[in-house]
Amino acid sequence: MVRAKITALGCYTPPRILTNQDLEKMVSTNDRWILERTGIRERHIADPEIATSDMATEAARCALALAGVDPSEVSAIIVCTVTPDMLFPSTACLVQNNLGVRGAWGFDLVAACSGFVYGLTTAAHLVSAGTHRKVLVIGSDTMSRIIDYTDRSTCILFGDAAGAMLVEGVDQRDDGAGFIDFVGEIDGSGGEYLKMPAGGSRRPASQATVEAREHYVHQEGQQVFKYAVRKMYEASAELLGRNGFTADDVALLIPHQANRRIITATAERLGLKDDRVVINIDRFGNTTSATIPLATRDAIQQGRLRRGDLVLFAAVGAGYTVGTSLWRWAY
Ligand code: UT7
Repeated sequence: MVRAKITALGCYTPPRILTNQDLEKMVSTNDRWILERTGIRERHIADPEIATSDMATEAARCALALAGVDPSEVSAIIVCTVTPDMLFPSTACLVQNNLGVRGAWGFDLVAACSGFVYGLTTAAHLVSAGTHRKVLVIGSDTMSRIIDYTDRSTCILFGDAAGAMLVEGVDQRDDGAGFIDFVGEIDGSGGEYLKMPAGGSRRPASQATVEAREHYVHQEGQQVFKYAVRKMYEASAELLGRNGFTADDVALLIPHQANRRIITATAERLGLKDDRVVINIDRFGNTTSATIPLATRDAIQQGRLRRGDLVLFAAVGAGYTVGTSLWRWAY
């Protein structure tokens, strides 16, 4: 048996910052409301010439350099995104070409804010099956391209970023570090509450869809909020319970960063104190598929994540999609 381990991580955040004070000049909002309701202070926004594949490539290069892995060794590339450069070719193909990877498999994975957790889980299974040895999982989203900056209920939430992890197959006769288990669920009954209505086969782009602002994110925030609070907890508790762990065993919960209140409610219900939860939403906002690698990077930089630690990744996103993934940290 081969065990899947995360062996490296790289991130890219565009340099330009959009603060709450900047948003005060754009829509009827204020710093206090945003901070109290979401926990966000600022987010990074990509310049017009930068697309999702560019950020994904930078993050992937960073992860490969850290691992000392040459692009020629990569056997699969999974790009988790809801903001591909275009509908096809897939962003994975564009990234493969940018990196100079040859002979690899790859595809885009659409699971919105749960994308990275789904990508990690998929990579772990490819590696454990023995079919792929080194899999790049990349979460990259240029959310600013699908945000309506006249809609105060959504434009304060999102930012742009990319993060990548290298998942490698390592001989199991070792320290037990690596992938343990996952819980995933999709629930399309929530599809209407968070979506980009047009641009697909049901409502292709037309003058009418553009005029109706249907190529932007539309969200019924409270519906999504309630679902996220419930499912982040339930999926996390199920995953820990069925593997014989309690909250006391968890060194770090690394949750998707959509709203500080969702994260703290989940942690409270699980019985996890603040020092075992990673929150960096204040600096990046909701970067969709990139939040989990960005939060993991911060945890590593702050010395909060060490080899052998039990790490729980958890996310809920549009769809609805729910994903939790349990790992013993490997480096
Ligand atoms: O990552 C993918 C999944 N997404 C999520 O998990 C997001 C989940 N939802 C949320 O995080 C929250 O629902 C929001 C942050 C989006 C909204 O917070 P809320 O506490 O649910 O506010 P609300 O939508 O109930 O709105 C409360 C009030 C409304 O005014 P009235 O009707 O009470 O007069 C809104 O119009 O706040 C108003 N409001 C704002 N006020 C100032 C909405 N947006 C803003 C704003 N600034 N930006």
